[in-house]
Amino acid sequence: MRAPMRRLGDVIPLPASVRPDEAATFTVTADTAVHADPAASGVAELLAGLLREASGHPIPLSANGSIKLLLDGGTGADDGKNPEGYALVIEADGVTLRAPSAQGLFNGVQTIRQLIPLGTGGDVPLPGGRIEDEPRFAYRGTMLDLARHFFTPEQVRDYIDAIVQFKINHLHLHLTDDQGWRLVIDSWPRLTEVSGGEGTGVDGAGPGFLTANDYTDLVAYAAERFVTIVPEIDMPGHVNAAQVAYPELTADGQAPEPRTDTKVGYSSLVASSEKTYEFVEDVLRELAALTPGPYLHIGGDEAFATPPEDYRTFMTRVLPLVGKYGKRAIGWHEMATVDLPPTAIPQYWRIEPSNEEVARAAAAGHQVIMSPADRTYLDMKYEKYDESSPLGLDWAGLVGIQRSYDWDPAERLPGVGEESVLGVESALWSETLRSLDDVCFMTFPRLAAIAEVAWTPRAARDWEPFSRRLGAFGPRWSAQGITFYQDPEIDWES
Ligand code: ACM
Repeated sequence: MRAPMRRLGDVIPLPASVRPDEAATFTVTADTAVHADPAASGVAELLAGLLREASGHPIPLSANGSIKLLLDGGTGADDGKNPEGYALVIEADGVTLRAPSAQGLFNGVQTIRQLIPLGTGGDVPLPGGRIEDEPRFAYRGTMLDLARHFFTPEQVRDYIDAIVQFKINHLHLHLTDDQGWRLVIDSWPRLTEVSGGEGTGVDGAGPGFLTANDYTDLVAYAAERFVTIVPEIDMPGHVNAAQVAYPELTADGQAPEPRTDTKVGYSSLVASSEKTYEFVEDVLRELAALTPGPYLHIGGDEAFATPPEDYRTFMTRVLPLVGKYGKRAIGWHEMATVDLPPTAIPQYWRIEPSNEEVARAAAAGHQVIMSPADRTYLDMKYEKYDESSPLGLDWAGLVGIQRSYDWDPAERLPGVGEESVLGVESALWSETLRSLDDVCFMTFPRLAAIAEVAWTPRAARDWEPFSRRLGAFGPRWSAQGITFYQDPEIDWES
């Protein structure tokens, strides 16, 4: 059994331009093959695999395949083309996907994937027409908190597979916090020996850590799917787990008690201690060496136990260390209270209607990542969902799907307009989560809404048609075994 043919525009995020040709249908048959420029063979194999799974046909890669993946030679830098853009033409006798880069082709393949009607076995019809597409914002991210609850590399890989379908291209991993430290640092081994194992995480229920090999493998898995891993070491606050492992990082040299509660703002590195900078530099050096992507996230939020003068001292010493190891610093927006190196990126996360420091950074030419909690925090409970559910928090209010959709990143903060917005990131803090099902339940469908906010031109976005497109994803998520919140307001196709 196969679901009816999809319409060309039934895609999330909505492409920039969709021109259906209802007279044309391409049908994937037992004779269909995929041709690709050699540099795009990995992406072609991904597409062929999807078509094999849907049809049961062999779908080989072949020089005369009727589905063509073509790199049109540009790099995106010199010809003005967005490297992430693509053009897809579906005609009766063939499909042509063109892009300036393999990443653009990968994005086009995600679009084709959504055009495959659900069902397995037999020929697959694809709707005719032309899509021309490119993202509004270059950075489209989501964050997963491995510190409050650890998720295994296999779970993170499954999560990557789920998020790339919406053209999310950055995965920010929150690796350290008061309740746990989740990445082995060779020069400070007790971080994970003491604070990564049994009994760590909120309620002691989220033990585990990544070895350097685990992390490197995850980074490579993400890169094959054009996802950049953004690792975060949160400091100068949120460091109780580090101080339990290394008491010399406290003011009095005494180890604090391990913490498994959800309070924030009580721990701090010591800004006046050289030991602090020895520790931070070792960690950043090792992390930079393991991380091919351009960013290291240094946290900087909720440092309520760090006096403001100490916070300035600390950030002023630490920010240049990120540059020293060849990376760009991202930090939660509190970081913008200090004078930032030109490449540093504040990430706005609060719910207030304005923020002077972020506006000042934007005026000075900094790019900003927008993560307002009342729109993008995936750990907030859903509107209309049973509020007694143990999943999620509500300090930023209840966040329904429409709330995640109906806002604009370039209008959210006065002084932070389109040219200052590098992109949008949602965040999933894991205090209340215990499984990948919990993670997916809180993520979907809201990440689909946020992905469209970050990708689709503002003028093309509209809640009603989005909610109809979203309805078609219910059975698609179910078929993939992805748990999601079945919001009663959405007409979920069955
Ligand atoms: C944050 O939610 N503390 C960045």
